[in-house]
Amino acid sequence: MLKQFDEVHGGLTRKSSRESGLATPPRSVVGIGGKVAKPDYSEAKIVLAMVGLPARGKSYLSNKLMRYLKWLEYEVKVFNVGQLRRTRAKAKREQSGVQENHSAEYFSHDNKEANQLRDKLAEDCLEMLIQWLKEGGNVGIHDATNSTKERRAMISNRVAREKGIVVIFLESLCDDPAVIAANVALKVSSGDPDYMNMSREEAERDFLERIRKYEKIYETITEPNLTYMKVMNVGSQVTLCNIHGYLQSRIAFYLMNLHVKPRSIFFSRHGESVYNVEGKIGGDAHLSPRGQTYAKALPQLIHDNIGDANLTVWTSTLQRTIETAQNLPFTKLTWKALDELDAGVCDGMTYEEIEAAYPEDFANRDEDKFNYRYRGGESYRDVVVRLEPIIMELERQENILIIGHQAILRCLYAYFHNLPQDDLPYIKIPLHTVIKLTPKAYGCDEERYTLPIAAVDTHRPKPKAAKQPDVVVSTARQYLDPTIA
Ligand code: SIN
Repeated sequence: MLKQFDEVHGGLTRKSSRESGLATPPRSVVGIGGKVAKPDYSEAKIVLAMVGLPARGKSYLSNKLMRYLKWLEYEVKVFNVGQLRRTRAKAKREQSGVQENHSAEYFSHDNKEANQLRDKLAEDCLEMLIQWLKEGGNVGIHDATNSTKERRAMISNRVAREKGIVVIFLESLCDDPAVIAANVALKVSSGDPDYMNMSREEAERDFLERIRKYEKIYETITEPNLTYMKVMNVGSQVTLCNIHGYLQSRIAFYLMNLHVKPRSIFFSRHGESVYNVEGKIGGDAHLSPRGQTYAKALPQLIHDNIGDANLTVWTSTLQRTIETAQNLPFTKLTWKALDELDAGVCDGMTYEEIEAAYPEDFANRDEDKFNYRYRGGESYRDVVVRLEPIIMELERQENILIIGHQAILRCLYAYFHNLPQDDLPYIKIPLHTVIKLTPKAYGCDEERYTLPIAAVDTHRPKPKAAKQPDVVVSTARQYLDPTIA
């Protein structure tokens, strides 16, 4: 085992205690591994106001951005004006039996009464968003058409009254008829209460009529005083105006890397390793005989799934992933960023040995696994930070198979399924199983293929009576605001 680390206090470079054969680690590495604090993002306060005709991918972009920024630990929330409208209409119907008519006519600019109602909804939604930012939020997404200069001026003037809060407009343009048609089809077939009592054909006719009403008054952003980004066809062209600072640039960079071409992302852990069999963590061990069998069987499983489509294989720099990928007839790339979570002084130990040598560390990690940083090593939080370029590249690419490690795949999986940090370190990623994720408009579909090749179970469940993570995979669009009773 070649792994070495810099000893923080002694300034020495030496092998880990296990590898050097020391009976006890040096004083500087004895004791409780640190907890990594969440970065302080309290100064970041952004209203991100969407702009765009219906069916142009605004909600798609809002949800993608939310997922990405939440994964990076920003507090992000989408405030969707359509959801607020439907939720209030539902409450009115239930309380007074009055059914509001939200067919295309409601969205006509000539309908003065409805216009006022819609402006009020947009304003109320903005007020809720600003309040939420004041209570600790970082990025509040105002998901609405915001299709006129007048509406954007209202938003801009309102936010200007709040010290420390800035507004960015994000316009989603789309001239690809296939994408628009797919968005329209999704809207009229996925349970939108606006079309509750209509056939699919009627719903489609009404929605297309609603779009025409918006088109009559739509003004693309040209206001030079505004901070804005314009995205054409989900990332194929991006225009930036007055974008400043780290977070705004990150958002712009992320948007530049998105695409909506159909593709799948496959995750597989390396085949069972010699260390897995021995119950040791970390290291750079070879595959066990059963792991080698998995590596031989993998090409057929992947071929059965993608046929003749192209695929790129990413591995870490560690032998067990490279050996698992060796029979796959595709381009392979090796990423240092995909190496397993660094267990520092515990590298190469079994959990029993860790518990005996560092009982406080062991308890500490069980108590808060996401934040716990191994002495001389990493925490899950550190891993999320180092995986950010991988996420960016994954968004840009088409079919990718990652042959990775348990902690790494947990972090990536949590991004695609929007899973909370507390649950992340306990996600089940078994050996000898391929997980296929297929991105959809509002989440990812998932399939799992387990090959009948026995392997040890390396999953340690959440300790004691703590609730095990519920991985609820959903690609359904939400039409009502879940936070309003
Ligand atoms: C809606 O009510 O569905 C959207 C309102 C808007 O953004 O114009």
